[in-house]
Parts: sequence; C-alpha cells; structure tokens
Amino acid sequence: MKLVVANHKMNLSQQEIEAYLFSLRGKVRKDLEVVICPCMIYLNCFQTNEVLLGSQNVGSISTGTLTGEVSAEQLKSLGVHYCLIGHSERRQKLNETNELIVDKIKQLFQNGITPILCIGETKEQRELHKTDLVLEKELRSCLNEFSKDEINGMVIAYEPIWSIGSGLTPSNQEIKRTISVIKEIIDRYYGTTCRILYGGSVSSRNIEELEKIENLDGYLVGGASLDASEWLNLLNNMK
Ligand code: PGA
Repeated sequence: MKLVVANHKMNLSQQEIEAYLFSLRGKVRKDLEVVICPCMIYLNCFQTNEVLLGSQNVGSISTGTLTGEVSAEQLKSLGVHYCLIGHSERRQKLNETNELIVDKIKQLFQNGITPILCIGETKEQRELHKTDLVLEKELRSCLNEFSKDEINGMVIAYEPIWSIGSGLTPSNQEIKRTISVIKEIIDRYYGTTCRILYGGSVSSRNIEELEKIENLDGYLVGGASLDASEWLNLLNNMK
C-alpha cells in the first residue's frame, strides 16, 4: 500500500483546520496509507480514523526539561504513528545537525513511532554532480547507530531541496535513478531495505506522471496538502 504524507508545516488557523477536517470527512481513500502531519498544536484535531497521525518534529530527549519541545512519549500518547525528521527547512533554518537527528530517531524508536528521515541535495550540489555523495553522507551520518531491523522499519523521504515549494521536479528518470542509488546505499552499508518516498512540488497535476515511477513507495507533500480539495484530488489521481 502506498504511503502519502501531508506536511502542513507552519500553516492554517484553527478555523481553517476545522473546515479542512470537515471537507475530508468520508472522502479519504482507504487503499492508501494517508498520514497528516499538522502543525503540532492541531495534533489533537486529527485523532480520527480517516487518516494516520504524523508529527513534524520531536524533542531530542525524553520527558523533562526542554522548554517548547514535545517528547516522543507525549506524541505516542496522542496516537502519533509517524514523525518527520531532518527536514531541510529545519536543517537549514534551525541548524538541525545529524547528531540531533540521531537523538530524535532514538526517541522515536523507544516509543514505537516510525521516523520519516528527509534527505536531499541543494541546487548547487546537483549542478556539481554531487547528489549521490550528499545522499550517502546524510544517510551514513543518520543511520550508522541503528540496527538492520530498525533501518528496515524506517521511511526515507528523498526531497531535492531545489524542488521544495518551487514547482520544479526532477524527471521521472532522474527520480528513479536516485531512488535506486538510495536503495543501493542502504543495502551496501546496512544489508537491508526500507520504504522510500519522493517529496518536492508534488501536486494533483503531476501525480499521475510521478505514479509511473516503479520504485517509489509514496510521497511527502507540502503545499498541495494545505487545501482539502487539492489534497483529495491528489490522492484520487493516484493509481
Ligand atoms: P512542497 O513541500 O510539496 O510544498 O514542495 C514538500 C516538503 O517540504 O516536504
């Protein structure tokens, strides 16, 4: 079953969330695994059986002294299944390091929440043909401490940074090649495999074309998940 994850980032007001939920009611496909990662303050609103609950972040230590953060234990108590980790916006704007990412993944595993680790190259790295190297480095820095079984239970989201929110996507051929490279790295170093998503300007208009890529397990969607009808169209346009 394909996994489709909505990342609302820091968007939508309480009133907009209520309208969004109303529009989704009874309309979400059951043959897809649909996850919504709302802004943290709305996690409670999404405790429905229509979608699975995802978080956009998690605290790097367990319960206690970390003002403004939310622990994996607390997320678990709300019924959170998935958590985004290492999104490029957090790496770039909040200086989130690979060490912090590793600590966060540990917290998630301790609480039975599946990490969705985001990796991807910048426009400059792509132009310098460094994509594969960047991905290998990110994967090794974030995964080395984990067991084969743990890695097997994770999800990797490949998000070319230049594609996020830009309306630009790599060609299907490029995405297919990069996904194979990621799979090959995970197999080479850890002797296992895991689910891999594509993220970056996925919309109801390009999803049919992206669906032709055979080695993808699903998508991570930002902008196109903010409007309920666009989100439903995107899901409905999948195979
Ligand atoms: P986008 O964002 O779909 O708006 O490009 C994707 C993401 O940042 O996860």
